[in-house]
Amino acid sequence: MKVFQHVSDLGNLNTALAEAFEIKKERYKYNELGRNKTALLIFFNNSLRTRLSTQKAALNLGMNVIVLDVNQGAWKLETERGVVMDSDKSEHLLEAIPVMASYCDIIGVRSFATFESRKDDYEEKILNQFIQYSGKPVFFMESATVHPLQSFADLITMEEYKKTARPKVVLTWAPHPKALPQAVPNSFAEWMNAADVDFVVTHPKGYELDPKFVGNARVEYDQMKAFEGADFIYAKNWSCPGVTCPEDYGKVLCKDMSWTVDEAHMAVTNNAFFMHCLPVRRNMIVTDGVIEAPTSLVIPEAANREISATVVLKRMLESL
Ligand code: CP
Repeated sequence: MKVFQHVSDLGNLNTALAEAFEIKKERYKYNELGRNKTALLIFFNNSLRTRLSTQKAALNLGMNVIVLDVNQGAWKLETERGVVMDSDKSEHLLEAIPVMASYCDIIGVRSFATFESRKDDYEEKILNQFIQYSGKPVFFMESATVHPLQSFADLITMEEYKKTARPKVVLTWAPHPKALPQAVPNSFAEWMNAADVDFVVTHPKGYELDPKFVGNARVEYDQMKAFEGADFIYAKNWSCPGVTCPEDYGKVLCKDMSWTVDEAHMAVTNNAFFMHCLPVRRNMIVTDGVIEAPTSLVIPEAANREISATVVLKRMLESL
């Protein structure tokens, strides 16, 4: 595997899940595969889970790991070609990428949406430069539009906890004080469309996700109605994706606290499990009671980030 960006990059999803469960049972089984190989993890943005779980995954496979926080200690990078570099940006990404690639075998990159241009964000301007100019396998550790390591871990977790063969899964928007990217809901929708589940998305009007990710998924604007009979509730805030109103891209259109996932919402579900990728703002996205209930899966899904990352790195090592 040379790029990990979309669910399709994994090929057959059942095979990938079987591999994940094999690794979960025996996570050091492939610890010779990465001998003398180096993973470089590049962070343009903050992280707790992705940083730790991906390092752990690389160590499981016997790899060396280098972590670079671009905003702490590296030269400030220019990403636009053709600019006169007379600002505080000392180095261009076009030199930095091949230099960084010369020190490693596999590259992971985290670079969030900037909301400056929907076109640039949705064309994955930064990550595509890494793919084009590094000459190395590149995996997305949350980009402008996707977070596939998270969605893979979410799917593994659902497989572990589902009580019916084809569960009802609801992706619900929830309020947040700041404008957040659409990477997690985009990927979650893409992966749920590929999985064997009954998938419903609920959000206030104006928050329609990009059709590239949400496909033909059922959209229900009445949140309570969407929750009825659900087996899994996946909560996440996202800012306006700019699908119906491009000028609103990246804006907070709604702070309606009635969308917070609370006990009354969960009461109409089929005793659903609660999921969120974390970090989560308590009593904005979800109440203390719901996230602390025995049906909350936020810790198991975070733990499964190690497993999803191990599968992805293993497949990249096998392709070297
Ligand atoms: N869920 C997730 O990616 O967490 P971090 O932002 O802490 O890495």
